[in-house]
Amino acid sequence: MAGGGFIAQGGKEYPGKLTLYVLVTCIVGSMGGLIFGYDIGISGGVTAMPDFLSKFFPSVYKKETAEESNNQYCKFDSVTLTLFTSSLYLAALFASLVASTVTRKLGRKLSMLFGGLLFCAGAIINAFAKNVAMLIIGRILLGFGVGFANQSVPLYLSEMAPYKYRGSLNIGFQLSITIGILVANVLNYFFAKIHDWGWRLSLGGAMVPAIIISIGSLILPDTPNSLIERGKREEAMTKLRRIRGENDVKNEFNDLVAASEASKKVEHPWRNLLERKYRPHLTMAIAIPFFQQLTGINVIMFYAPVLFKTIGFEDNASLMSAVITGGVNVLATMVSIYGVDKWGRRFLFLEGGVQMFICQVVVAICIGVKFGVSGNVTNLPEWYAIVVVLFICIYVSAFAWSWGPLGWLVPSEIFPLEIRSAAQSINVSVNMFFTFVIAQVFLTMLCHLKFGLFLFFAFFVLVMSVFVYVFLPETKGVPIEEMSVVWKNHWFWGKYVVDEHLDANIEMGKSMDNGVSSKGVY
Ligand code: BGC
Repeated sequence: MAGGGFIAQGGKEYPGKLTLYVLVTCIVGSMGGLIFGYDIGISGGVTAMPDFLSKFFPSVYKKETAEESNNQYCKFDSVTLTLFTSSLYLAALFASLVASTVTRKLGRKLSMLFGGLLFCAGAIINAFAKNVAMLIIGRILLGFGVGFANQSVPLYLSEMAPYKYRGSLNIGFQLSITIGILVANVLNYFFAKIHDWGWRLSLGGAMVPAIIISIGSLILPDTPNSLIERGKREEAMTKLRRIRGENDVKNEFNDLVAASEASKKVEHPWRNLLERKYRPHLTMAIAIPFFQQLTGINVIMFYAPVLFKTIGFEDNASLMSAVITGGVNVLATMVSIYGVDKWGRRFLFLEGGVQMFICQVVVAICIGVKFGVSGNVTNLPEWYAIVVVLFICIYVSAFAWSWGPLGWLVPSEIFPLEIRSAAQSINVSVNMFFTFVIAQVFLTMLCHLKFGLFLFFAFFVLVMSVFVYVFLPETKGVPIEEMSVVWKNHWFWGKYVVDEHLDANIEMGKSMDNGVSSKGVY
């Protein structure tokens, strides 16, 4: 495999190969994304299953099947039904805040383990649900699981990976999310055919990814960053040598120690986030997940079967179309694994933005022309529905190689160690909050905004692309403990990130035996 040793943009040389050890570790770690993905993919299909609807949400079921209800835009509009989907994300929001402390003080692995166990408990309750309350309690536990996993897994991967492969290895997380979604879509397709209790299998199936991540977290090694942060320096040095496949890891090790020293001085990571020098980080921790959700992707992910039914597909065809979009999602994610460390993050963000924008406008026009404002249509020609599905697939592929993976990668690589865990929690909670909002209001928005809903999201895609173009520096090929360089050199953020601690860090560097100091300081 390719060897390490080129000079990073930050001016440091960190040797580091893509060793088998790091590869296997990152693949196992990435599987943390499966639980999130499984969940995203399963709820939409389950809420489109007549057996499930008639048992738990009889009024929606009645409305859906009523002959006289021809308004396609509004037939699934029900607050309790959306609460079923979205309650999980509120729970994940709170859990990710708690996970910040666990991840920082007890290590990334323990957060992953909590994630797996809580998710497993939720899956069991859901599989045996007798009433809506049990369903919601199960969903809340699943949400706690997702909160812990999403807080810790991306950090884990970015810390483990050699910096020049960091993008690809981190995107393993997103790949697992998409595989989780696809598997869930396929299972829904088959389980929907088992009358009365097929949905129990769909919901209970979440136990499988939960067990995978729980066992994975027990066998994975700790990251050197986390070991140093917790005072285990010798173990960290040995681990770093093993991970990088090199004996001489002094430069990187010293930078990690320097980062950890700086981190120890921080007593209140939350309050610190508000300091001026962390303005770019805080801005990105909020803006990136906000924009990721405002692409509208989860309208497709949660409600693809419902949406496809809305445009006139039969039950079976709707679930099948969800399988197709799920497959496109997985394949297109691989494009970003290939390209993210070659073409860079900004290129993917911008290309993805343009592609999504075009698709959303086309879908809005297609739906608008046929359904108009009344939403009354009975016979939609088949070719028409196929065109809509096609553009939805092109849209999904754009998301899958841009905002999907980068929404998790970029935040996990830009935060300095002293605020890393807290800032990542902000990232996860903002993501979960807007996932919740969109899941909760989508069906109502569809009912009111009608085809304009797609234009609403297109508008945000435009704004986020301009935001990236103007404010987001390229982070490809920069070691994470050196990341300050990109902010300092940025036309706007350079004003915020100044060299105030540079001297202090040079001193600290000098006192280390080889005199290496961290340039990556604030
Ligand atoms: C997002 C999810 C989304 C998924 C789709 C993830 O990056 O955070 O909200 O459902 O991608 O693949």
